[in-house]
Amino acid sequence: EFMREVSGLSHMEQQLKSILGIARVHIVPQDSDDMPAVKGDIGKEAARLLESRFAQHKIVAVTGGSTMAAISKELSTDRKDNALQFVAARGGLGEDVLHQANTIASAFAAKTGGSVKTLYLPDHLSAEAFEMMLREPVIKDMMDHYDRTDIVVHGIGNAEEIALQRKSSSEEVEHIRSGGAVSEAFGYYFNAQGEVVYRIRTAGIQLEQVKNAAFILAVAGGHSKAQAILSYCKIAAKGTVLVTDEGAARQIIELT
Ligand code: G3H
Repeated sequence: EFMREVSGLSHMEQQLKSILGIARVHIVPQDSDDMPAVKGDIGKEAARLLESRFAQHKIVAVTGGSTMAAISKELSTDRKDNALQFVAARGGLGEDVLHQANTIASAFAAKTGGSVKTLYLPDHLSAEAFEMMLREPVIKDMMDHYDRTDIVVHGIGNAEEIALQRKSSSEEVEHIRSGGAVSEAFGYYFNAQGEVVYRIRTAGIQLEQVKNAAFILAVAGGHSKAQAILSYCKIAAKGTVLVTDEGAARQIIELT
């Protein structure tokens, strides 16, 4: 705590909280773009915040990404709780398996003693296949869990980077570009004003369901994520808590 005061991080946390209009910001020192170990520190901070909620909240939706993977590495195995239920926030595929929501939800469950609901579906379905799938009982069950989600933990990505990483169709990349998408979270793409410009056609948690959760924890760091964080926070629920790093924080302050 003393070190945080000295380095001015506490002050920066307050500043960022008011710039972003969310409930709380936690900043870990340094920049994960320059030093990969900093992503581990974000994971550690987020893991402690989450664990403090587990006694009260049991249904937890989780997304994918390397920052989410960093959280799963840091979760403690000391207090097993079989009432915890982790739900992959969306059907995954198309990304590196280690960073898929399904994989990360499973890792969270293994660490904490909870159970897991996964959803293995292609990221890009035809309109017809999508309609049909929504009538499937397993999908309905997923949707029901999204409705009852207490906690959402998610990463924030740079729109174009994510689109390329997912090997999206050229049509999709075009939507994302022409819509001016800046950020991505749980399968939604947002522009600088925080408007939805595109959504991946797969079964997944809806924006409204995210907003209804009692606790929303967003994790993203590195100066290269500054624009994406700003964009996402335009639509983020006011109660959102962000764990980020000094690199992103300084860049956001500079941009605003
Ligand atoms: O949806 C957001 C991205 O998947 C974030 O990924 O944490 O690896 O940057 P990242």
